[in-house]
Amino acid sequence: MRVLGIETSCDETGVAVYDTEAGLLAHRVHSQIDVHAVYGGVVPELASRDHVRYLRPMVDETIAAAGLAPTDLDGVAYTTGPGLLGALLVGATFAKTLALSLERPALGVHHMEGHLLAPLMETPDLALPFVALLVSGGHTQLILVRALGDYELLGTTLDDAAGEAFDKTAKLLELGYPGGPKISALAETGDPTRFGFTRPLTDRPGCDFSFSGLKTQVLTEAKKCVDAGILDDGTKADLAASFQAAIVDTLVLKCVRALEETGAKTLVMSGGVSANRQLREALRGLENRGVQVAYPSPQFCTDNGAMIAFAGALRLERGQADASAQIQIRPRWPLADLPEVV
Ligand code: KG4
Ligand code: ZN
Repeated sequence: MRVLGIETSCDETGVAVYDTEAGLLAHRVHSQIDVHAVYGGVVPELASRDHVRYLRPMVDETIAAAGLAPTDLDGVAYTTGPGLLGALLVGATFAKTLALSLERPALGVHHMEGHLLAPLMETPDLALPFVALLVSGGHTQLILVRALGDYELLGTTLDDAAGEAFDKTAKLLELGYPGGPKISALAETGDPTRFGFTRPLTDRPGCDFSFSGLKTQVLTEAKKCVDAGILDDGTKADLAASFQAAIVDTLVLKCVRALEETGAKTLVMSGGVSANRQLREALRGLENRGVQVAYPSPQFCTDNGAMIAFAGALRLERGQADASAQIQIRPRWPLADLPEVV
């Protein structure tokens, strides 16, 4: 089965063709970083307009790169939520119209299920059940995956998501947008032990997270450095490295806790923050404790069409599809509300 995947939930236009027998045939991602960077964050209306501009030519290009014609497609999967309302509408409208004109099924995919299953594209033999750490700009969740569509939320953030914490901290250090890549690049040259930021909620039981206090700690320390006249590039690098170390330590500790609580032996990580090098290395270290660790290659960590085509194909293959031609999006959509797939 060949499925076209369309992702437009936020600030990346992603398109891909996934073949359930041959794997990923082609994929394209267009990032809107340049559009939003001057504003220091995503401007929803500009995001929608950019998706309108790029989606159609990218679909043509991706189908051609896969060596196919539109009529060779067996279904169209698109992100139906969660995400920005206008941005989601662009992808949903295009996908459903295309599916209708081709007389093929369309399927709205949950963006976080796309992230959740993305590691399976490259590591198909992952043992179930597994614990998944989903770390993106909007989510920080630990999820027990028992089967496709059978997800139990083990922990979530009580305030900021990890990616949001990276973005806000980068903003206050005047590093620009998006914050994750900027902080991690700067942290490479910094001393992660210079500032002793707390590892939030690690002293309490459970798998929940809280990251909003960390950025306040960074701000407080940065102000002290300004007052002392020492907020130079080296100090900023130390702040970035110390902040990143606090996030990484906290995420790893909660992953270990989730594995212990569930008895699962496999850990999967996905979402934009999983592109972070320090975090990837730290989780790899769990392999010494007999844990199987998997995460996507960096291009499939951040938003992309391949994960939507893949997750969509798994469900379409089992007979799931949108019940009507009506265009529906779900800007807010808890992952636990997804139907199980048997
Ligand atoms: O999954 P994603 O592309 O979009 C959402 O669904 O939110 O994640 C974007 C988030 C942003 O907050 C960005 O700063 C963060 O992922 N991110 C990173 C890195 N690359 C992207 N955070 C830390 N280190 C990175 N290398
Ligand atoms: Zn995402």
